Formats: sequence, C-alpha cells, structure tokens
Amino acid sequence: MPRVLISDKLSPAGIEILEKTPGIEVVVNTDLSPEQVREELKNFDGIIIRSGTKLTAEVLDGQPRLKAVARAGVGVDNVDLPTATRQGIVVMNTPAGNTISTAEQTLALMYAMSRNTVPAATTMKGGGWDRKKFTGSQMAGKTLGIIGLGRIGLAVAKRAIAMEMNVIGYDPFLTAEKAAEHGIEFCSNVADLVPQADYITVHTPLTDETRGLIDAEMLEKAKPGVRLVNCARGGIIDEDALADALESGKVAAAALDVFTSEPPPEDFRLRTIDNALLTPHLGASTDEAQELVALEAAELMVGYLTRGE
Ligand code: NAD
Ligand code: MLT
Repeated sequence: MPRVLISDKLSPAGIEILEKTPGIEVVVNTDLSPEQVREELKNFDGIIIRSGTKLTAEVLDGQPRLKAVARAGVGVDNVDLPTATRQGIVVMNTPAGNTISTAEQTLALMYAMSRNTVPAATTMKGGGWDRKKFTGSQMAGKTLGIIGLGRIGLAVAKRAIAMEMNVIGYDPFLTAEKAAEHGIEFCSNVADLVPQADYITVHTPLTDETRGLIDAEMLEKAKPGVRLVNCARGGIIDEDALADALESGKVAAAALDVFTSEPPPEDFRLRTIDNALLTPHLGASTDEAQELVALEAAELMVGYLTRGE
C-alpha cells in the first residue's frame, strides 16, 4: 500500500483527500528533524511539504522507496532537484493556488508603506496622536514597475491598474505586445524600468540571474524616494544595499516578506531601520490559499501514486 508522509502543516482539506483515498496510508508528522525525515522516508512512497521541510541532497540520496514529492506552494527551492531527478523522484508543485493571496499581500504592503500605517498605528497604541508626521503618498497616478510578469506579477498589475497606477514591467519571457494586452508598458530591461518607477516590486524566482537583481548599482539609478517590495524570494533585492539606501534616504521605504535567510538573524540590519516593513513570509498565508495548495498537492500525490490503476 502506498504511504504518504505530510511533514509540514497542511490544511485539513488536503489531508482528508488522502485519508479518503482507498489504498493510501497517510501519516502526518510535522516535528521531524532533517535526520528524522531522512530515516522516515525509507518507509514512504510520497511526501507532501510546504517550505519548512528541506529535502536536501543528503535527505533524498539513497531513498529507494520514495517516488514523489508534492510541494504545497510555488517555490521548489527547498528540494534538491538534481538529486530528486537522479533518484527518479517526481517533484510536483501547486503554482496557482496562492497567486491572488500573494498579489494581495504585495498591494497591502504598498498601501501600508505609502500611508505609514504601521508606525502610525503603533504610535496610537502608545498613547500618541501625530497627524503631521504620518502624511503619506497617494498611489493613484504613480508608476509601478513590476519585474517578473508571471502569475503573481500579472495579478499585481491587474489590481494596480484598477487603483489607477501606471504599470510598467519587465520579463525576459514576455513580449511587449503580450504586456500591452494586460495594460502594461513593457521595458526592455531592468535598468530601463528602475529609473521610471515610484514603486518597484519583484515577482521572479530566485536564480543566478535574479540574485541581487536590485543591487547598489541599480538602486543608484532609481528615483529618489522610490518604494520597493519583495514578496518573491529573499536576495532578489540585495539586503545590504537596500539597508544603505534606506539609511541614506534614497529609498523612502521598503517592504520585505522574504529573506535571504529565513528567519533572518536577530541582529539582521533591516530589523533596526524604521522604513523597512518586514513580514515573516506571509504572502501565501491565507486560509483560502492554504486550502487551495493543500487540495492540489493532495490530488497530485493521489493521482501520481494511483496512476494506471
Ligand atoms: P511564475 O513562474 O508564474 O512567474 C515568474 C516570472 O518571473 C516568469 O514570468 C518568468 O519569466 C519571470 N522571470 C524569470 N527570470 C526573470 C528575470 N531574470 N527577470 C525578470 N523576470 C524573470 O511565478 P509566480 O507564481 O508569479 O511566483 C513568483 C515568485 O513569488 C516566485 O519566486 C515564488 O516562489 C514566489 N512566491 C512567494 C510567496 C510568498 O509567500 N511570499 C508566495 C507565492 C510565490
Ligand atoms: C511559495 O513558494 O509557494 C511561497 O513562498 C509560499 C510558501 O512557501 O508557502
């Protein structure tokens, strides 16, 4: 009988699908160390993970029984793909389930930065009342630069256009014509986009090309007072260069949902900078998105393990 291990917290709807499938045994254990995952996997045909479980080369190597990994979410950066491929382990993800929630988180952070929502609310809770200090900036009429026009980038664009922003964008795999169909003015590269934008948001995977895509040199080209968002992967915006630019005032504010190291260290520099708005990787953390990705991951796993039957 195929056995499936769920090693990260998964929405109950997904677990139920597996439990209701005759001929599949499901075990939920979200407290395993990497060594324990490695040991446990010897007795499983499939594993469903979110971002917590790290399926490194060490964990995946020498797993004759394991056939499939389902990632409830987009990024498979916590799975060593070369090792999985070498071992004949199929790796599946659920790319669409958290698109809207992550786009909404991006816009929530843009609004919060523009209106100083967090410091203003914190001041009030502390007994204060300061209307002048927290004067904000209207988003309608401003230019939003989107780097990466895939699922989330396009969902952000659609919403920003509804907010009466001018949207410009760059993606090496999209044509200017396709971008125009979405109401986006296409830029031929990042260096062309950056100086035009009042807000910049990145929605690419983390690759050798996108690591440090927004670095000190790129920030130099930006408009003074630009606001930045990263709800994609830590490191696409260089964290040190960003801290320098926030401290110098070149960047008015930045909102990061993702970090080079998660969680970032306690003495992480951006924690101490006022205009850095930090959230702990919450883009996909809505009930709706978690249910969608869990359902899809469970269905993919069942489909794979029962194929041909
Ligand atoms: P997607 O694959 O639909 O879109 C990514 C886009 O980036 C593609 O269109 C691709 O062509 C483009 N791209 C690749 N290299 C590029 C480059 N060098 N310059 C510009 N564009 C480039 O992915 P998605 O679902 O939109 O997700 C985007 C990112 O958001 C991923 O990194 C994903 O892991 C992350 N994500 C984060 C959260 C969160 O909780 N914060 C939630 C979901 C997704
Ligand atoms: C993803 O890649 O799907 C997101 O980062 C969200 C998550 O890890 O759950």
